[in-house]
Amino acid sequence: MKIIMLGAPGAGKGTQAKQIADKYSIPHISTGDIFRANLKAGTDLGRKAKEYMDQGLLVPDELTCDLVMDRISQDDCKNGFVLDGFPRTIPQAEALDAALSKIGQKMDYAIDVDVPDENIINRMSGRRACLNCGATYHIVSIPTKVEGVCDRCGSPVVLRDDDQPETVKKRLEVYHAQTQPLIDYYKEQDILKSVDGTQPMENVFHAIVEILGA
Ligand code: AP5
Repeated sequence: MKIIMLGAPGAGKGTQAKQIADKYSIPHISTGDIFRANLKAGTDLGRKAKEYMDQGLLVPDELTCDLVMDRISQDDCKNGFVLDGFPRTIPQAEALDAALSKIGQKMDYAIDVDVPDENIINRMSGRRACLNCGATYHIVSIPTKVEGVCDRCGSPVVLRDDDQPETVKKRLEVYHAQTQPLIDYYKEQDILKSVDGTQPMENVFHAIVEILGA
């Protein structure tokens, strides 16, 4: 099962993608997590990506596409994968389709987690992320057991640099200009499904499982 998670920054793509990956035993591939892991490891890619991420802009397609194509060609992706944060532009979507079509495959579902902009800024200011293992929390809806400490790996959890309100506003603008057109792109391919991302997380997941099948 090959799934794309669509939605605005903070819509809950990552939260749902992790649960989908667990339930269906497929890898969760988040381009944002890959860039953050590179930044932590001090690679050139991480440094370059940070320049864009800190401004709320997209990392250029030429830095993004090859790394995803390489990741999905690995053995653990044979039975499918869930993409979180990719594609984010029409050229990225076309590159993905072209790479899959070369091996006679195509995406199965594009799931749009729909949340209006006004809900997003609140969510993002409450999000706390573990920069070590990628776990995410929310100070109200999913607090850590010990304040400021990741339940999973014990590292500190922080407000991401790009979750500052001004940067979130820019990310939303970029989302509407560059990523939202993918909704029509996948509608035309007849693989678009939409879920109401303003519902509690477990209800959103239930709606997704109804789409994907138990
Ligand atoms: P990325 O890390 O992908 O960020 P994003 O898409 O902006 O998405 P987020 O991770 O911020 O949010 P999410 O939708 O996963 O929400 P989450 O589940 O955490 O990308 C970061 C940057 O990297 C980009 O800005 C760009 O610069 C670059 N980048 C990445 N991919 C790229 C690409 N393909 N091309 C170019 N550049 C790229 O939830 C958010 C919060 O809400 C959490 O606290 C969560 O607990 C809470 N929450 C979730 N669901 C609910 C719910 N139902 N009710 C209440 N709270 C909820």
